[in-house]
Amino acid sequence: MSVQIAPSILSADFARLADEAAAVATVADWLHVDVMDNHFVPNLTLGAPVVAALHAATPLPLDCHLMIDDPDRWAATYAEVGAGNVTFHAEAAADVVQTARSIRAAGARAGLALKPGTDVESYLDVLGEFDMLLVMTVEPGFGGQEFLPAMMPKVARARKYLRDAGLPLWIQVDGGVTEETIETCARAGADVFVAGSAVYGAHDPAAAVSALRHRARVFAAEAQASSR
Ligand code: DX5
Ligand code: ZN
Repeated sequence: MSVQIAPSILSADFARLADEAAAVATVADWLHVDVMDNHFVPNLTLGAPVVAALHAATPLPLDCHLMIDDPDRWAATYAEVGAGNVTFHAEAAADVVQTARSIRAAGARAGLALKPGTDVESYLDVLGEFDMLLVMTVEPGFGGQEFLPAMMPKVARARKYLRDAGLPLWIQVDGGVTEETIETCARAGADVFVAGSAVYGAHDPAAAVSALRHRARVFAAEAQASSR
């Protein structure tokens, strides 16, 4: 399991997105792009045209997190405009398998996101259709919320299932991830860490990404050693 860090531009300056992407381009693995429609969540951000523009403006692969209704209809569009990964919410999709397949057919990795109140057990049988599982560690909708440690057993159960089933999915955590909370996430088995305010709220966003990676690596290595 290798640690990956995905800064979320939700906490960046939206008037300077290209510069904000450039600030982390040499140290981050992904740029996390939160797409919100004011229906699935009570907040409105950006859509496919902005994702296309960002794709043209940064060498970082884009990790699109769709917090929208009807992802069945829209998910593949985000892959078509250049996202490297498209994650959609299980709660919003009518057909999670077909939607995952539409993303992969358009050339991107497919992710399945679960809100805090959604259990992972209902989705174990479809995880083979995905490249990543996103366990939300806050209610989706806003940056800067407090991390929910109660989500860690969900991460651990998912990691155990994936290990036992021999499935290579990444497990992403998103919401309230900081230098302090990243430890418990890595120990539980997460390997992709989204951080918005911890990166873009920092004086030096690149240094913040490096610090998060360092912390996650230490604890991910410990967790792996203890699971052997
Ligand atoms: C929240 C978004 C997150 C958000 C995280 O719904 O999905 O990606 O940017 O922000 P922080 O890291 O500040 O909790
Ligand atoms: Zn997100």
